[in-house]
Amino acid sequence: MNDSVYLNGEFIPLAEARIPVMDRGFLFGDSVYEVIPAYGGRLFRLPQHLHRLEQSLHAIHMQNPMSRQNWETILGALAAQHPGTDQSIYLQVTRGVAGARDHAIPAGLEPTIFAMSSPLPAPDPGIPARGIAAITLDDIRWRLCNIKATTLLPNVLLRQEAGERGALEAILIRDGLAVEGAASNLFIVDDGQLITPPKGEHLLPGITRDLVLELAAEAEIPYCEANITAERLDEADEIWLTSSTREIMPVTHLDDRPINNGRPGPLWRRMNELFQAYKEELRTKG
Ligand code: PDD
Repeated sequence: MNDSVYLNGEFIPLAEARIPVMDRGFLFGDSVYEVIPAYGGRLFRLPQHLHRLEQSLHAIHMQNPMSRQNWETILGALAAQHPGTDQSIYLQVTRGVAGARDHAIPAGLEPTIFAMSSPLPAPDPGIPARGIAAITLDDIRWRLCNIKATTLLPNVLLRQEAGERGALEAILIRDGLAVEGAASNLFIVDDGQLITPPKGEHLLPGITRDLVLELAAEAEIPYCEANITAERLDEADEIWLTSSTREIMPVTHLDDRPINNGRPGPLWRRMNELFQAYKEELRTKG
């Protein structure tokens, strides 16, 4: 089963994985997903990812098609394909294949379940010296951004615009508030305090976000969950963006303006050390 993917009950080579064009995931983006890192074959915060998957399914009126134990078996088998390496496990559940294209949801569909593992590149080693550039953009997404839906066209366009303007990520502004990145959560440091927007419909409840808050609590770093206005973002001492695949990224240029003199800040260094230690512990001890 080396390098195989999981599709509807079978482990098969990626090149042989096929879904029918009448799948509602293909026609309507009627599906949800998760991205779970595996460090040295060990899945990062699996219960939390499976909990978020359940919340996403519930929000789109679908049942979880598998028990937690089955998910663990399948995802664990994918992660075990390359035990010594870091992998990113992608899983997707679509509403399934319908007889006709119709927005209304037909009864009795069998969900399509897909999962695969890909190499997870280590973060760019230049980041601790340079950080990354980000730009602010108007949040053009829909209102239910807490659902991890595959309907990602706005995120794709926002990320593309950031790339075209020489930035790695877009920070999204809705009604004057900075909510999150196009594929990441947002933190700022203001006067020694770590601040991230509270969970709600306008942002994804990130697994990395929650871990950063847990690590802050353990290390007695002051933090709070509060709205961040666009003006407060502009004046922040540090800005970070977090995600499963890109860890904690220090933003050192926002809209071409340097943050913290264009260097990652001291609190980022401390949090990144805590995060790397957490990862290493998972990798070595499970
Ligand atoms: N995206 N916000 C958005 C809009 C995201 O797409 C992501 C992650 C996050 C961070 O969540 P987490 O810490 O659980 O990865 C926040 C994944 C990695 C993706 O779409 O590939």
